Amino acid sequence: MCGIVGYVGNKKAVDILLEGLTSLEYRGYDSSGIAVNIDGKVELFKAAGKLQNLKNIVEKNYTEISKSTIGIGHIRWATHGAPTIENAHPHSCNCGKVAVVHNGIIENFKELKEKLEKRGCTFRSQTDTETIAHLVATKFGETHDLTEAVRLATREIEGAYALCVIHQDLPHTIVATRRNAPLVVGLGDGENYVASDVPALIQYTKKAMYLEDNQIVTLTPDSIQLIDIDNKPLEQKIETLPWEPVALSKMGYKHFMLKEIHEQPDVVRNVLSGKLRAIDENVILKEVTLDRETLKNLNRIQIVACGTSLHAAMVGKYIIEDFCGISVDVEPSSEYIYRKTITDKNTLVIGVSQSGETADTITAVRQAKSKGSHILIVTNRPDSTMAREADSLIPVNAGIEVSVAATKSYMAQLISFYLLAIYMAEVKGINNLKDLKHELIILPQKIEKVLAHKEEIQKCARKFSGSKDFIFIARGINFPTALEGALKLKEISYINATGYTAGELKHGPIAMLDESMPVLSILMKGKVYDKILSNSEEAKARNARMIALTDSDDEKLNELFESIIRIPEISEILSPALAVVPLQLLAYYIAEFLGKDVDQPRNLAKSVTVE
Ligand code: AGP
Repeated sequence: MCGIVGYVGNKKAVDILLEGLTSLEYRGYDSSGIAVNIDGKVELFKAAGKLQNLKNIVEKNYTEISKSTIGIGHIRWATHGAPTIENAHPHSCNCGKVAVVHNGIIENFKELKEKLEKRGCTFRSQTDTETIAHLVATKFGETHDLTEAVRLATREIEGAYALCVIHQDLPHTIVATRRNAPLVVGLGDGENYVASDVPALIQYTKKAMYLEDNQIVTLTPDSIQLIDIDNKPLEQKIETLPWEPVALSKMGYKHFMLKEIHEQPDVVRNVLSGKLRAIDENVILKEVTLDRETLKNLNRIQIVACGTSLHAAMVGKYIIEDFCGISVDVEPSSEYIYRKTITDKNTLVIGVSQSGETADTITAVRQAKSKGSHILIVTNRPDSTMAREADSLIPVNAGIEVSVAATKSYMAQLISFYLLAIYMAEVKGINNLKDLKHELIILPQKIEKVLAHKEEIQKCARKFSGSKDFIFIARGINFPTALEGALKLKEISYINATGYTAGELKHGPIAMLDESMPVLSILMKGKVYDKILSNSEEAKARNARMIALTDSDDEKLNELFESIIRIPEISEILSPALAVVPLQLLAYYIAEFLGKDVDQPRNLAKSVTVE
């Protein structure tokens, strides 16, 4: 959701800005723009729609634009004002000397705008961001110092922001700051970078400095100065970035989503590595600081998450309750934050997030922290805002996920929950989970088998790609799998898909069934197999088009189901980690067959940084 890139050095800034924005495209956006300094004048170039539209504009003016060795760029996901050229970033002030790009939301922008208009500022857009450009310009008029102007401006701004600012009179300076929105500085040799996320930097430098809230950084080609909001100089903490550029390549796959689905066997191996070494050894989770005493005193666990991460959390609830006998509540973060929650120091609160930047989950976690709860974060980004709130951290190690639709990060979250549940059980002295540990170790081979036999899934995708609606049913531990299968399908194919517990079908949804409705039953062998079979019979009796996803080789299923996707046999308790793979592939092939923009579905963003 929105992306920022800034560069100051001796190279053609425009190339670095466009390259950086391209690597952030996966986050979801609907317009883009850059600001550069050409012959001592700040010039803006903006376009609505895809980044390619901006690239076309740049191409026509390349000789001029490429003179600049400084620039800031942005991709915007509209919040205030439609995705038009006027509302695209960068924004400028009356005199056109200041250019600003911004991620986040300025909550008091109406009050600020009114004040600035009274002082003669003329607004050209409907955005909250334009207020910052005018405010910084006003402060610069008073101080003639860009860092000071930005610092004073941030004292008046309320809300969340990552900001980059340039000024016409300072052709070698970028000032950047943040509050509740990520920003990272990349350090080069005679050049420096700033971006809202690592992929924009990684091909240029691995030396980086993460900005913390209310820190202000001033970049020139040869220097970096860091201060706090009270103008106190701060020590710079330089880190080495973990991401490899190869992670950003499709490696021959048509889409990132397909590549990421295929990475899942290795993701499982990675997550298990060093944590589950042998079935007769205890699980090692060094980052989790919950000892027997803390666990004994826990009266409840609450898990907060959104979207796909929420579905992983639902599986987590099932296994923690099953293995450890502790009561677990799972709630969408956006609901948790607007009610009175019964949370105290004896509650363990787990935040789950691929990006670690989801605004609702950050707020939920902070709310729980203020009540004294131990905060455990499960995230793919140990460098994220959420990770910094953690008392205990489980980094899920899925590697960077580019496709907006989460696949391998879901797998990594699931496996992390299995490890956490086993770990907690073992801390409590429960040691009967050897079979599950064995199954976890051989899970990658089973996923590989599913990936090697995709024909039935592709056939099924072709057959059902014309459907307007889709129902997924399951019971027990695979109910979240049904929800996740439906979410994947609607996200990338725009088919109206819903997941139900199979037992609920006859309490309402059955009314929708007729010969045009596909019903996919997740029919894994175990406690609820026969129950789901009966529910599938009920659906078939209403003429629904039946599809089975099963690890059973029962021939009788052929009569009931029009299509059968068979997967290797697996214990019911671990089955969500295998059953989800064919559903990811089904969604992928349907979307691909329909010619949809698989990696960047409309209206969606990779990390949702606004509440
Ligand atoms: C998943 O396919 C979605 N794009 C979305 O539901 C996502 O899982 C949700 O926005 C939560 O994101 P997070 O895991 O980064 O917090």
